[in-house]
Amino acid sequence: MKHVSIAAIPGDGVGKEVVPEAIRVLKAISDVHGGLSFTFQDFPWSCEYYLEHGEMMPKDGLEQLKAFDSIFLGAVGDANLVPDHVSLWGLLIKIRREFEQVINVRPAKQLSGIRSPLAQPKDFDLLVVRENGEGEYSEIGGRIYQGEDQLAIQNAVFSRKGTERAMRFAFQLAEKRRKHVTSATKSNGIVHTMPFWDEVFQDVAKDYPEVTADSQHIDALSAFFVTRPEKFDVIVASNLFGDILTDLGAAIMGSIGVAPAANINVNGKYPSMFEPVHGSAPDIAGKGIANPIGQIWTAKLMLDHFGEEELGTHLLEIIESVTADGFLTADIGGAYQTQEITNEIITRLKK
Ligand code: NAI
Ligand code: MG
Repeated sequence: MKHVSIAAIPGDGVGKEVVPEAIRVLKAISDVHGGLSFTFQDFPWSCEYYLEHGEMMPKDGLEQLKAFDSIFLGAVGDANLVPDHVSLWGLLIKIRREFEQVINVRPAKQLSGIRSPLAQPKDFDLLVVRENGEGEYSEIGGRIYQGEDQLAIQNAVFSRKGTERAMRFAFQLAEKRRKHVTSATKSNGIVHTMPFWDEVFQDVAKDYPEVTADSQHIDALSAFFVTRPEKFDVIVASNLFGDILTDLGAAIMGSIGVAPAANINVNGKYPSMFEPVHGSAPDIAGKGIANPIGQIWTAKLMLDHFGEEELGTHLLEIIESVTADGFLTADIGGAYQTQEITNEIITRLKK
């Protein structure tokens, strides 16, 4: 029997609605599959928690989380209560940084039954591996002078270790998929870090002879996400490029409410964190109409991470059968409630 302990942080807004739904699905999976069990502990860390305690999580919050196999997060942010940069940096970014979650994985796939905003929808199924710890999002830099002499400098940081780590992760995923990796570069315009990125990519590619590799400049690559997303398998990108590409990936799927993500710790020292791409959706929070698929698909990524890839694949097939049969929430053109979608998924899981 395999046990997985999960720290659940529903957070704010729709996070509080979709996390319990995904937990119901995980419990149903362990009911059906005798060899796997989950234990869940809920942590109330959120903007409401901040109002009461003056911090997003307790001083020993990370220490508490460290004991778990995995962190399952909904969404954080309620700008009416706490400024977004305070809530984000006080919880989410803290966990990502301190727990060395240096890889961010975001799949984008056209699910049957969900209308893509692309006028000519394509049958795409791609995976973006984003370097999540350095790159353009560094704290190195500063500002000087006032008035018209004002000046700001922001340095990008690309280490051999960090770059190689993200690329190897991408190649290893590609080995299990359609065996192709595309590198997002911009070495024609960014003349120090990006040629370095390209060199590392060429070196790493040699270690994966079964996987084909190519490089695309990020501007063209973004356009290809719209014109021919079906050509991609795995894409490896720096922190900034990956951030932008993955929002585009979520957009072409039809709704941010279905997009899943994982923040992976690769050295095994700390738990990884699984969270959907969407935020707390204050405009629809509390109405029971949030799409739970992003969170449930995120649970699938967690299953994959614990080596339960067969179960993960099965869960995604069930999600897709549900959308294909027209069980859709409002964001994707339907009228079903959050819990009705989950109920349908669980019914099919138990068949
Ligand atoms: P958002 O993702 O919360 O909402 C954008 C749009 O997508 C809204 O129209 C919303 O209704 C819709 N949407 C999002 N999730 C949905 C779901 N599950 N089902 C149906 N529709 C859904 O992004 P927004 O509005 O920019 O941010 C709201 C708050 O969330 C802010 O406080 C922000 O800081 C926070 N946020 C947190 C993130 C996280 O915890 N990882 C990520 C993005 C934003
Ligand atoms: Mg983003």
